[in-house]
Amino acid sequence: MNPNAAICRCVALAGPASILLPSGDDGLGVQMPSDRLTASKKAIRGISIGGMMEMMMHGNAAMVETGMADQAKAGGSGLQIVPLTGCLGAEIRNVDLATLDEAGWKAVYDAWVKYLVIFIPNQGHLTPDDHLAIGAHFGRWDEEVSQGSTADVLDKYSQIKVLHNEGVRADRWHADTTGSENPPRATVFRLIEAPAFRGDTIWSNQYAAYESLSAPMRNLLDGLTAFHQSNVKKGLEAVHPVVRTNPETGQRYLFVNRLVTRHIVEMSPSESEALLRYLFDWQEQVRLQVRHTWSPGDVAIWDNCATLHHAVRDYLEPRVAHRLMIVGDHRYDKPDRWAPFESNEAAFLNPNLYDGAALAALTK
Ligand SMILES: [Fe+2]
Repeated sequence: MNPNAAICRCVALAGPASILLPSGDDGLGVQMPSDRLTASKKAIRGISIGGMMEMMMHGNAAMVETGMADQAKAGGSGLQIVPLTGCLGAEIRNVDLATLDEAGWKAVYDAWVKYLVIFIPNQGHLTPDDHLAIGAHFGRWDEEVSQGSTADVLDKYSQIKVLHNEGVRADRWHADTTGSENPPRATVFRLIEAPAFRGDTIWSNQYAAYESLSAPMRNLLDGLTAFHQSNVKKGLEAVHPVVRTNPETGQRYLFVNRLVTRHIVEMSPSESEALLRYLFDWQEQVRLQVRHTWSPGDVAIWDNCATLHHAVRDYLEPRVAHRLMIVGDHRYDKPDRWAPFESNEAAFLNPNLYDGAALAALTK
């Protein structure tokens, strides 16, 4: 047995032995059973950098062991949770989401908290009502949040958006609807039709993206806000902290993305451009990712705040999916360390060469 496997199991298992993080405030404003909320506070949100590095170092043997351990915890239902990378993502096997019992849903929810994106294959028999019932295990929804930038919805189900590849393709890294004041906390996604082996989606862990930055960089980012603006729906725009805190765990994550984050509010245009370019490259790096190849009937559920995703544009055939968005619950305060940037042209000039009146005129 790998002598380090115990370390890896400690990182990956939910339960008393894995309570590593302090709990946050209780007033989350999210509708979910209290036992599930308690469990999620105790679970690890994502995988810590230390754990990620252990998993990277010790390889797949340890990951299979963690999967088997999670299977044992799921009880006699046969439900199996198999981690997919050292950073995020798990596949849940041997489960029918239409008939899953409460113990099974607790295991699925805890897996979502821990791995951030979960994939459940062979769910092609689910109905739109089943889709809504799945979403209810992760919070509440409303039409505006679910529809996002367009109102292309399923007949008689205004909460379920129909996504297809005939319009705008999300082939740049993003989280869904971050142009809104309260971005969705989760996405519940059913793949209806897809070309074989093409049209993958990739996700990236933004807890790890933040935690792996240097202390000086994290300190700088903690004081900044950024302007997000939809490039599809006019007027869908908001200012968010560059770093947000999960209220359940206290863990912090990077919250900018290449698709809709336009600028850092407290910085000059050139500073903002340079910093955002750096952050986009950092948060999209390969070792933070998991990639999924779709099959019809797949269900994917992801944390829409602490992950980014990217739809790979490598196909021409039809691709159809149904998407339900869960209303955001992440309350946060915008940092107020600095005021929004204001240009000061006078600072470019040598005050020894100009009188005060001339300099003052430049600042008006
Ligand atoms: Fe998306």
